[in-house]
Amino acid sequence: MDLNLTDKVAFVTGASKGIGRQVTLRLAQEGCDVVITARGREGLEQAAAEIQAETGRKIIPLTGDMSRDTDVERCVRTAIGEFGRIDVLVTCAGSSPGGLLEELTEEQWMQSLNLKFLGYVRTVRAVVPHMVDEGSGSIVLVVGNDGLKPSFWEMTAGAANAADLNFASSIADQYGPKGVRVNTVNPGPVDTDRWDGLEKAFARDMGVDQAEARRRAEASIPLGRITRPDEVAALVAFLASDVAGSVHGAHVPIDGAQRKALMER
Ligand SMILES: NC(=O)c1ccc[n+]([C@@H]2O[C@H](COP(=O)([O-])OP(=O)(O)OC[C@H]3O[C@@H](n4cnc5c(N)ncnc54)[C@H](OP(=O)(O)O)[C@@H]3O)[C@@H](O)[C@H]2O)c1
Repeated sequence: MDLNLTDKVAFVTGASKGIGRQVTLRLAQEGCDVVITARGREGLEQAAAEIQAETGRKIIPLTGDMSRDTDVERCVRTAIGEFGRIDVLVTCAGSSPGGLLEELTEEQWMQSLNLKFLGYVRTVRAVVPHMVDEGSGSIVLVVGNDGLKPSFWEMTAGAANAADLNFASSIADQYGPKGVRVNTVNPGPVDTDRWDGLEKAFARDMGVDQAEARRRAEASIPLGRITRPDEVAALVAFLASDVAGSVHGAHVPIDGAQRKALMER
């Protein structure tokens, strides 16, 4: 299927690895030039160089911490300076701490909300005026299925994700009439470094080994397997494209129908 994304400009946050990196690769394969952000320079520059070499598209790495307003604004300003517009925004920068209510600190709650919720708000706030000026744009927030289902061990992510879903619905309402589409993609477990870290931490907290933590995660998913990052990227690219031109304000799960709490006993 031709997604008709050739020569579009995309901005992807949290793109040095994991889902964001796969999204960048897929968008570049579809013909987009992509500005990517993350905090660590080395991994980001390496990802940009590799994807640019593989696809022949321009991939611009900009280091920045999406939990800081000034960094978000600087990165968006630089992207606009380079390309004059942003057609597609995909937010992936997130890392919410797992843990039990009795153990989670105030700081950990704030860390989750400040990056996974407010980081997404900041990025949309910086990009959307440029899309409105163009009269078009597509925003895809990579959120997570635990914004809708309970998980006693992932509650800082769940709360931030629930806030992201409501935020996305609100901006869909506000900016749809101005030509900007907004959708969310909601993965369950996806095989990335973040997932590996969560598996290890869950195993530690539950007193089981990592293989048992993974077995429990897989058992909570009717399809019985962890999603691959490239599967998430394909869905993001579809929603970002005009092929999905009537899909707006949607919250799309990609989780093998996982509806139970993660790794429940
Ligand atoms: N993997 C899953 O099972 C899963 C499931 C549901 C939802 N999600 C969501 O999907 C998104 C991506 O997850 P992932 O698994 O791909 O994570 P990942 O493999 O840990 O990659 C996270 C990316 O975000 C960047 N990042 C982290 N903190 C940042 C910050 N403060 N500012 C800018 N960039 C930052 C990281 O680079 P630096 O560290 O160098 O900054 C990295 O490039 C997250 O929002 C996550 O909550 C993941």
